[in-house]
Amino acid sequence: MKVTIVGAGNVGATCADVISYRGIASGVVLLDIKEGFAEGKAMDIMQCATTTGFNTKVSGSTNDYSKTAGSDVVVITSGIPRKPGMTREELIGINAGIVKTVADNVLQHSPNAIIVVVSNPMDTMTYLTLKATGLPKNRVIGMGGALDSSRFKYYLSQALGKPANDIQGMVIGGHGDTTMIPLTRLASYNGAPIANFMSQDEMDKVAAATMVGGATLTGLLGTSAWYAPGASVAFLVDSILNDQKRMIPCSVMLDGEYGQSDICIGVPCIIGKNGIEQIVDIQLNDAEKALFAKSADAVRNMNADLKA
Ligand code: NAI
Repeated sequence: MKVTIVGAGNVGATCADVISYRGIASGVVLLDIKEGFAEGKAMDIMQCATTTGFNTKVSGSTNDYSKTAGSDVVVITSGIPRKPGMTREELIGINAGIVKTVADNVLQHSPNAIIVVVSNPMDTMTYLTLKATGLPKNRVIGMGGALDSSRFKYYLSQALGKPANDIQGMVIGGHGDTTMIPLTRLASYNGAPIANFMSQDEMDKVAAATMVGGATLTGLLGTSAWYAPGASVAFLVDSILNDQKRMIPCSVMLDGEYGQSDICIGVPCIIGKNGIEQIVDIQLNDAEKALFAKSADAVRNMNADLKA
């Protein structure tokens, strides 16, 4: 199984690293526009093969898409961060151009690939990719909910003093500080509702920490995070390539589910070899429905900037 990762920066290279040491794919191609950069990252990862013990072949390419031919999954992490003085519309315009060109290029060489979109603003870039390529909606998946959910479980585990792996929880809605919705009502510790262990005030604090989880790391690191984002992409890619049928919140095109249409936004999905195999329409209560509708409005406003 072959994976291409476009953008060999922090998130893309970390994803390649996790995919290789966990043996998720037999081959990974890292591609970047910076001369020699992807080749260097690939060589560095390959030099871990004997110490971490993996057989995945990782190679790099400077913008030569022929090397990506026959990929089963293509991950798009290429893009630029917002620079001082740049408006949101300008950022969206630049990243939209990059994502669209990349999607066109990869599909020329891997016409059957499933595309995982990571570049921000992710929900809008997922929507753009779907519209620009005309691919069926099961083959374009936005990664954001996997990361936000792992951060939610991290903060729950910190508050409870229990291992994160014993905690279940998910974050739906848009992939943004103000648009994501950590579903505290449905979170559990080994099947028992989290409300058995925490007060509403404590749960609200965890939800608030989750929502600014990315910004907290940017404040500490001076740039956006990469370990958890890269691992979250690898987790999603694993579910596709190895047909794991994991339920993962992903940004997908809705067609009436959750009362929304013509929008890509985070909802729980079953992810397998066909990409999005099922959108799970969980029963939200009225307060959650209202939050979801508000989140969808914000994502729709962002999508409108694509046409500006
Ligand atoms: P980075 O700056 O480290 O890496 C981006 C790479 O893309 C650079 O190496 C750059 O040379 C490359 N690139 C730019 N234009 C390209 C093109 N046309 N073709 C090929 N490569 C190109 O950035 P980082 O930290 O890896 O983040 C990547 C993207 O992922 C950003 O948009 C970031 O906001 C987003 N992100 C999304 C997350 C999510 O949960 N969806 C989480 C973390 C980051």
